[in-house]
Formats: sequence, structure tokens, C-alpha cells
Amino acid sequence: MNANPKTFRVKSFGCQMNVYDGERMAELLADSGMSAAGDGDDADLVVLNTCHIREKAAEKAYSDIGRLRREDGSRPLIALAGCVAQAEAAEAKARSPMIDIVVGPQAYHRLPEMVAAAESGRRLVDTDMPALSKFDALPARRRASPSAFLTVQEGCDKFCTYCVVPYTRGAEISRPAGDILAEARALVDAGAVELVLLGQNVNAWAGGLDRLIRALSTIDGLERIRYTTSHPADMSDALIAAHGEVDKLMPYLHLPVQSGSDRMLRAMNRSHSVESYLRTIEKARAARPDIAISGDFIVGFPGETEADFEATLQIVDAVRYASAYSFKYSARPGTPAAAMEDQISPEIMDERLQRLHLRIAEHQLAFNRSTIGRDTAILVERKGRRPGQMIGKSPWLQSVHVEAAAKPGTMLAVTLTAAGPNSMSGAVHAAVAA
Ligand code: SAH
Ligand code: SF4
Ligand code: F3S
Repeated sequence: MNANPKTFRVKSFGCQMNVYDGERMAELLADSGMSAAGDGDDADLVVLNTCHIREKAAEKAYSDIGRLRREDGSRPLIALAGCVAQAEAAEAKARSPMIDIVVGPQAYHRLPEMVAAAESGRRLVDTDMPALSKFDALPARRRASPSAFLTVQEGCDKFCTYCVVPYTRGAEISRPAGDILAEARALVDAGAVELVLLGQNVNAWAGGLDRLIRALSTIDGLERIRYTTSHPADMSDALIAAHGEVDKLMPYLHLPVQSGSDRMLRAMNRSHSVESYLRTIEKARAARPDIAISGDFIVGFPGETEADFEATLQIVDAVRYASAYSFKYSARPGTPAAAMEDQISPEIMDERLQRLHLRIAEHQLAFNRSTIGRDTAILVERKGRRPGQMIGKSPWLQSVHVEAAAKPGTMLAVTLTAAGPNSMSGAVHAAVAA
């Protein structure tokens, strides 16, 4: 282990909130006097910011730890952070003696003190969940990518029967509007053009997410607002209306449904039905006809029959998703679904996942094709593979390839000219004056 670490690396797995947390941990460590290790260089401190959502994600944390031992037998100081740290603090230390620090998602503002204490050879654990205090203890934002994440809500009280998030992230809390607006302004000053508001149930933000979005939309220099992830039961009429009224709010809604079978939705404790979900989608399309709908699905939840699964294919057809993520059910320790009868075999799960992937891909391609010919704007984010090529995002979150000498953060006026399954091509008219 490395006493007195001078360089660090933060590696984040899992959802966008973990990416946000990873950025904040890096800022915190930099403020405490350490510097980020260069690409390919050994770091004195490695923070593994882990995800517990499915078994595979959680196992990745442990296999990564094994790879941190160097050829000469030495190793960095290792901090296990994120949702695995929260869920398995005790087991993690027993499983891997190489872990020096265990710090949960609500306690990482204490990381610098823990690093200092770990130098004396003690193994430290902090998985307290003091609501909100981490945000107050974090340094102000000074760096931002063109599209920047901003956590506004954290935790979950929904307790879907398959899900670990209520245990790893704790009870639902909303950050105060004033704090969010201050952080938003700092991010825009630091170069953000788009803000993605994050929460495990972002649309349950206590002050009304529509009102927060309207307040954020008055920030000069901020061009685009997105939010994720929403729960269907918290999709208010006011938030839907905002999609038709706030220009900066992008026409994109990620609204996970998980299954197209009411029987499965009940077993999952989802608190919405197929019908209520479809009604919400209809309202969103009435407010903003071009809105792109995205979703999440779980196949092979305990007890799922072929008929239940076919109902899922039907809801995919009914919604015509612009994109969607689908996962094989993974039994998670401590969740009610893990103890349910009729666990589905891996073979059946594989077969269903494949069929669902194909169906989603058809709709995604159809959506992309339907946007050919549109005159729109992209936010340039990065270089493409070919020389002179840049990649930006359309309002509908499509990746658009263009030939242009434009820096990340530039808004370009484009016509969408061609569609692929996962991306678009565009022809540039001009830079949009911000
Ligand atoms: N808060 C969000 C997303 C949480 S996790 C929501 O409520 O929708 C992201 C996605 O992972 C979920 O939407 C679900 O599709 C999937 N997921 C969660 N737990 C899972 C499990 N045990 N097995 C497989 N997929 C899971
Ligand atoms: Fe998990 Fe359900 Fe909460 Fe989403 S709403 S985080 S799936 S418990
Ligand atoms: Fe994973 Fe935790 Fe996010 S379990 S999905 S990192 S909230």
C-alpha cells in the first residue's frame, strides 16, 4: 500500500449518478492537494466507484481490485466507493484484504480525511447516510463538459421488488432549489451548454420538477435541459406541459416501464399499470408531438411466462421507442424478488432478451429514419473516428456525425441526412449564435 498518496484515479461504474459522484470525488481529492494520475500512469490512490444493480456489475468491482496489484508486488491505496461499498461493506473487507477504505455514496465528502487516516495503516469504513450533508461539504464546481450532470434528487422510496437502489442510496431526498441553481450557474460558467438533471426518481423532486426546469431555463448560456430517470407514477401533468412550453427542455423522455404485463408489474411493485403508462406517453406526445421516448425493460422476472413476455413485445410496438435498455433479471441479495418462486432459467432469459433486443432495434431504426430531413441543432461533444469528423447530440439524443471544424460545446445548425441503427449523419449549415 502507498503511504502519503500524491496521485489519484477515480473509476466509475454504473449509472449517471455514479459518474456525477466520481467527478465530485475527483474535485474533492484535487482540492485536498492531490493530482489526477495521467492516462496509463500508476496512481497512488485508486477509487473504485462501484455499482450494485446487477450481479455482473457488482462482481466487476472485485475483479478490478485484483488487477490493481503491480508487477513488483506493490499496490495503490484502494478505496471502495459507490453502491457495492454501501451494500457490502463488511463482506467486501473480508473478500478483499486489499481494500483500505470503504466509503458509501452519501459519505464520500469524508474521503480526504479517510485517505489521510489510512496512511497510518488503519482500514476505514464510512457508510453513514446523513441526508444532504455531502453536498454542503463539496467544493464549488470549476470544470464542466458541454453536457454536464447535476444531481437534484437522490434515493428511492419505491421499493420495486427486484431493486437494490433503496438500500444503496437510501430514502428519497431532494436538494434545495437554491443549491441546484447555484451549482447550475457554476457549471454553465465553467463551460456547460446542457445540463442533465439526475435523480433515481428525478421527477419526484420535491418542489415540482417542472418549476425547477422553468427556473433553470432562465440561465443565460444554458441551451439545453434534460432529466433522468423518471418513474411513471410521478409523471405529473405540469411536467408534461413543460415539454410543450419550455424551449430549452429537450424532446426526450426516459420512462422505464420494465414489463408490458400487469401481472409482472404488480409482482415488481411498480405502482403503475400498462394502461396508465400508455396514457402518460399519449399525454407527452400531445404536449410535444416529436418527443422521443426511451425506456428500460427487465426480462425473466420470477414467474414471467411466454404470454407475459409477449405482452412486453406488444408494449414496445405500442410505444415505438426511440431507444430502450433491456436487462436480464438478476436476483439481488436482500430484495423480495430474490426469494420468489419460479426463477426463470438463464436459457429462457437469453432467448427473450435476444427477441426483445431485435424488436427494440427495429423501432430505434424506424425512429432514426423518421427524423431524416429535419433541420435542427446539435451540441458538439467530441471528435469522430475519421479526420475532420465531429459527433454531437440532436435534441432527440441521437449521436449525429458531421464534417465540421467545431469545438466541443459548439451548437451547430444541421440537416439530418442519413440514419443508422445507432447514429445519424448531418450536413452543417452554420454555427448557431448562442
Ligand atoms: N430509478 C430508475 C432506474 C433504476 S436502475 C427507475 O426506477 O426506473 C436502472 C434499471 O436497471 C432499471 O430501470 C431496471 O430496468 C434495471 N434493473 C434494476 N434492478 C435490476 C435487477 N435486479 N435485475 C435486472 N435489471 C435491473
Ligand atoms: Fe429501483 Fe424501482 Fe426505485 Fe427505480 S423506482 S430505483 S427501479 S426501486
Ligand atoms: Fe448502480 Fe448505484 Fe447507480 S446500484 S445503477 S450505481 S444507483
